[in-house]
Amino acid sequence: MKYISLATDIPGPKSLQLATRRRAAVPRGVPQLTPIFVNRASGATITDVDGNAFLDFCGGIGCMNVGHTQPAVVDAVRTQAEAFLHTCFMVAPYEVYVALAEQMNRLTPGDCEKRTFFVNSGAEAVENGIKIARSYTGRPAVLCFDDAYHGRTYMAMSVTAKEKPYKYGFGPFSQDVYRVPFANPYRCANAAETSLEAIEDTFRHRIAADQVAAILFEPIQGEGGFIVPPVEFVVGLRSICDKYGIVLIADEVQTGFGRTGRMFACEHFNVAPDILLSAKSIAAGLPLAACTGRAEIMDQPGPGALGGTFGGNPVSCAAALATLSLFADETLLARSERIGQIFRERAKQWQRYFPCIGDVRGMGGMQAIELVLDPKDKQPAPELAKQLTQHALERGLLLATAGTYSNVIRLLVPLVATDEQMNEGLEALEAAFQAVQCEVA
Ligand SMILES: Cc1ncc(COP(=O)(O)O)c(C=O)c1O
Repeated sequence: MKYISLATDIPGPKSLQLATRRRAAVPRGVPQLTPIFVNRASGATITDVDGNAFLDFCGGIGCMNVGHTQPAVVDAVRTQAEAFLHTCFMVAPYEVYVALAEQMNRLTPGDCEKRTFFVNSGAEAVENGIKIARSYTGRPAVLCFDDAYHGRTYMAMSVTAKEKPYKYGFGPFSQDVYRVPFANPYRCANAAETSLEAIEDTFRHRIAADQVAAILFEPIQGEGGFIVPPVEFVVGLRSICDKYGIVLIADEVQTGFGRTGRMFACEHFNVAPDILLSAKSIAAGLPLAACTGRAEIMDQPGPGALGGTFGGNPVSCAAALATLSLFADETLLARSERIGQIFRERAKQWQRYFPCIGDVRGMGGMQAIELVLDPKDKQPAPELAKQLTQHALERGLLLATAGTYSNVIRLLVPLVATDEQMNEGLEALEAAFQAVQCEVA
């Protein structure tokens, strides 16, 4: 059976009409990665308004780990929506919020007593993680990394590295933010050592360690290009934080909920952060984010200091509880590993005959291909990435790029994708590589 089925040119006439309306109604600053408009989605497929069926390797940028319209989640949403939609947890609380906080405290790395509260987006989780770390330590500064992405609110932009398009023209940004190189083994021979030394050097020359509230990091950088740091780097961050009394904040917004083959990516490094931020796939497509951390840190801000009108909306919490129950056995985590393996094997073969593939990397179902002009000098090839996603789209495969130079093709396919779906999607990607290669030659 084939999952991709294209009935019109892409975009089809109905998508084109909607694009015209969109241009007139929505500011151009809101990106549109593909020109299609969606009618339905299920599992790892999306059908557009023109009746074209696509395989979805983007998963709503990492939100759909358990698949589109996952039946258990849809049932939970329906049941909760019929009971009540919103009371505001701060006014009239409800059990699903507390039950979800209990689950998050249990599932996140670290055996200590924990607390969790909920907000609406990854960026808002980042804001709160930093607020809490500052409140707990009484220190102002935050250390973050090159190539990091943490969102679009002001503090989140301040700790995000990439200038264009995320920060350009939006300054001034928050003070007391210090950025050091992330440990990128593809582009630096002694990546962990170099990056850890840069932190110590920052403490010597730019900001005293006893003024630093938090080190904020992504265990695997997402928008930065799926950069997997060496284990020693993450272990080293933990040691530095322990040494100087700094709060270690792991941003697992993109890496969480099985994406890397473990529930949370920190598990690969055997490191427990003090605060773990999650969002995206937590509620299978509904807006929700969590801030989970050691009880004594999370309880530092006083009554009334944390919250928000919609934070922990009951429908989102019900969706999240249903999502977590799908991870109760290890099937989805095993699927994540299997999907990663299928992708890697194929991509490693391609690397032999497509010289533009500089690197194939990732963990579990979080995999990527970095495109370069020449594998020796590793100069980024963003134009190739653009052409490749366009050719893939024309063949019915939705793909997203990443990377500071937008030269990385990333895999965020729903973890419910079957082997058949993976192989069909990879056929389309291989055909896209061939088409790009022909254009270059
Ligand atoms: C690692 C990371 N942190 C934070 C964010 C921001 O999340 P949101 O878009 O929900 O605000 C993202 C979004 O891509 C992310 O990948």
